[in-house]
Amino acid sequence: HKRDLIRNISIIAHIDHGKTTLVDRILECTGTIEKRKMKEQYLDTMDIERERGITIKATPVKVLYKASDGLEYEINIIDTPGHVDFSYEVSRSLAACEGAILLVDASQGVEAQTFANTYLALENDLEIIPVVNKVDLPNANIEETVAELEDLIGFTADDCIYASGKTGQGIPEILEAIVHNIPAPSGDINAPLKALIFDAEYDKYRGVVIHARIVDGEVTVGDKIKMFSTGEEFEVTEVGIFTPELVPTDTLSAGEVGYIIAGIKDVDSAKVGDTITSAANPVTTPLPGFKEIKPMVYAGLFPGLPEYYEELRKAIEKLKLNDAALSFKPENSPALGFGFRVGFLGLLHMEVVRERLEREFEIACILTAPNVVYKVKLRNGDTVDITNPAKFPDDSQIEEVQEPFVTLNIITPSEYMGSLIGFITSEKRGEFKEVENAGKNRVVLKFDAPLAEIMFDFFDKLKAISRGYASMDYEIIGYRPSDVVKVTILVNRETVDALSFIVHRSKEYTVARRVVEKLKDLIPQHQFQIPIQAKAGGRIIARSDIKALRKDVLAKCYGGDITRKMKLLEKQREGKKRMREIGKVNIPQTAFLALMKIG
Ligand code: GTP
Repeated sequence: HKRDLIRNISIIAHIDHGKTTLVDRILECTGTIEKRKMKEQYLDTMDIERERGITIKATPVKVLYKASDGLEYEINIIDTPGHVDFSYEVSRSLAACEGAILLVDASQGVEAQTFANTYLALENDLEIIPVVNKVDLPNANIEETVAELEDLIGFTADDCIYASGKTGQGIPEILEAIVHNIPAPSGDINAPLKALIFDAEYDKYRGVVIHARIVDGEVTVGDKIKMFSTGEEFEVTEVGIFTPELVPTDTLSAGEVGYIIAGIKDVDSAKVGDTITSAANPVTTPLPGFKEIKPMVYAGLFPGLPEYYEELRKAIEKLKLNDAALSFKPENSPALGFGFRVGFLGLLHMEVVRERLEREFEIACILTAPNVVYKVKLRNGDTVDITNPAKFPDDSQIEEVQEPFVTLNIITPSEYMGSLIGFITSEKRGEFKEVENAGKNRVVLKFDAPLAEIMFDFFDKLKAISRGYASMDYEIIGYRPSDVVKVTILVNRETVDALSFIVHRSKEYTVARRVVEKLKDLIPQHQFQIPIQAKAGGRIIARSDIKALRKDVLAKCYGGDITRKMKLLEKQREGKKRMREIGKVNIPQTAFLALMKIG
């Protein structure tokens, strides 16, 4: 049977452990992509990904492999995003597979992301093939890596394949293990259609291209399909496979991985994790694990100059077409004017959106410091979700505030354990839960901590304390009561709402002081002295002053005749520089992120 020759797999790896390189070798080894066509790192397609060397969006690829048993197998490799912001997407990609390759860099050992994703794979009942990678490196520590795999996940030296994406060592063994250890997909081809959406992308010409795993039944051009979560119906115009280019086929049937095009205009209609079924003969229960994606952090987004608002709106609408996790609504800030409140999965997601706006749309924008969503129970009995610190209710109206908490896993060499526990419990409001050994000299530390605390300046400190060796991963566990306060910032005695932030009461003074100091460094000098004040509960709790510029410097800056055209150019440059004039003060973009730059 054709289906017995299919293998659907994912690759689990921490960032930089060599996933893309390994896939490239597999493509080369199986002749999927001719050598001369082979671009470095075929799977990473977005510019930003290529530049930063991180994989964000999963792009599947089908590989044909003639195994030692003489049969030709079809292996679908579904790539997974390598960042905690996208863990829901990772879990849905894994759900589309029967097995996973667990790739560990032998010079780095098991890291937090590897560990977390392995658990996601085990939860999805995947067969796991442990691969110790980069064994060609002189500093590869194979023995210790295996000891960590054994302690943390239970694999022994005999279970592992020793490989190198660089030399090609171990690639044949990996291919054989995929064929022999990972089960073929099961599923009933005669049952009504049941397919899992594990990704969706928007194409200018074809609309939404759904990446799907067919679980039961089959789908053919002309079929009417229905989305389980919304009930929306569409007619299929094309189905096909990933080579990794899209290649149309007649049908996709149970066990197969491929794409479906059905005149869908918006990625919101093809939600990751949703079940596709037949409109005529729908299933009654969906596939498990579907969740609506909710943004975890929000930030204000404003045009570099007010007149670019429309341009920004168009750009963000375009981005949204291809990014179901992005949410936005118009916002009016007294200081910055018209803009948007934008919801992101996390800080990496935010960074990607900002970079795309600047590069693909050439729009300079001002992004304010991100914040988590607070749940505020009011005295009048209502509960509101606060996504904008400027809109945080007055103390007198509040009954209780709750903030999101995470379980935090940190894998680190044992020698840094003490300093890390100290840092997280005393500076980051974390609660230490437990420690587990991993190999001879590493440990896994578990904490509960507020999401807000691990968002800012956490990763860098973690790396600094551990000399780069610790890695982290977290999972949201829900909301817990918290005693937080809103701090307002005044620049030159005017409230700049876009600089407001929410902070735990225990850190109110320290954070306020650091923010005003930071703003003092980030806002340039003007002809006049500029006081910067932080206010909470009606009192000024911190202040710092920017001294006035001396006169002779001014003469040089503002001399000369400026034509209309020059003025315009100047204005545009200003927009590009991302400066905004508030009151009489020019505030640069970096100042709006001052909060992120302090501990
Ligand atoms: P993300 O997409 O960021 O998760 O990274 P990745 O896991 O895809 O890693 P990638 O394949 O980009 O490799 C990261 C770095 O390690 C690159 O500089 C590779 O050239 C290098 N590398 C990958 N595999 C090997 C290997 O087997 N041996 C050696 N020496 N270097 C390798």
